Amino acid sequence: MKTTMSYIRVIGFMILAFFLLELIVDTGEGWAIIQYPIIWAILAMVFLFAIAVEIIAAALQRVLFAGLNDEAKERYKTMEAVRNENRFAWFKRKYTEMLGAKPIESEQEIVLDHNYDGIRELDNNLPPWWTYLFYITIVFGVAYFVYYEVFDGPNQIDEYKVEVAIAKEEIAEYKKNNQDLIDAETVELLTEPSDIAAGKTIFSENCVACHKESGGGGIGPNLTDDNWILGGGIKNVFHTISEGGRAGKGMIPWKSDLKPGEIAQVASYVLSLYGTNPPDGKDPEGDIWKNESALTE
Ligand code: HEC
Repeated sequence: MKTTMSYIRVIGFMILAFFLLELIVDTGEGWAIIQYPIIWAILAMVFLFAIAVEIIAAALQRVLFAGLNDEAKERYKTMEAVRNENRFAWFKRKYTEMLGAKPIESEQEIVLDHNYDGIRELDNNLPPWWTYLFYITIVFGVAYFVYYEVFDGPNQIDEYKVEVAIAKEEIAEYKKNNQDLIDAETVELLTEPSDIAAGKTIFSENCVACHKESGGGGIGPNLTDDNWILGGGIKNVFHTISEGGRAGKGMIPWKSDLKPGEIAQVASYVLSLYGTNPPDGKDPEGDIWKNESALTE
């Protein structure tokens, strides 16, 4: 009465199936098994169901077996033994077929004539899997040669360049979606109209009291001219807005009120005011900032 523990088999197959699925269907996300605990719930239910079936079947079998007379019991045992014997017969047969080799018993027929000091050659067939593998390598070799050598397929350097280009795009995309990862070191001037518009809104809400709507300056200095007290260019302006001006001057650090992405937007808006020359602008303060590109771009 051998009831191999099929629930172990079942669970094994299910897990195998999931692993295969994960391998084949690559969603680019994490493991579905981890992400969706419902899968475990279903698995557990199937598992419990399999155990239940197993237990019921085993109990039934025991009851039925107990009811048999001795002769029938014997017969049943022989049947069981035969079945176990034949269990993998199909695989065994297929395997021998695949091998295509003469079995040891009939090797005499294929020993070649020549004889070197008692060493003789056994001319057995090569296993078909081996031969076909060999043919495949030939086909592969020809295809490879033609593709890469004759038709000049992409070499490693080309592939490298393609991958770097893709990676750069991904980085740009990533930066776009994670605007708050920037700081004064990494910030770049934003030129998208949407960013400038957002910067203008932030500026109107927080900065106009001291810098005026035009940026021409009031309590704070003129932000539209060539002169900067704390340094021009996106990196310095970002730094000033984030960390504040000199102690006691009135320009507070904004990093607790504005996110890095917002600081970048308002800083870019400030720089977009360069050269607008508002009529009520304050006189220049500080030094002329020479890094043209950062200002005018
Ligand atoms: C309470 C008044 C006040 C507010 C509000 C204010 N600032 Fe200022 N800002 C100043 C003062 C004063 C300075 C000069 C600081 C110094 O001299 O150290 C300054 C300096 C600056 C500078 C540097 C100018 C230079 O010449 O280096 C920038 C850029 C700037 N502010 C942008 C902003 C932005 C953007 C906002 C809004 C988020 C803002 N400020 C809000 C008062 C203010």
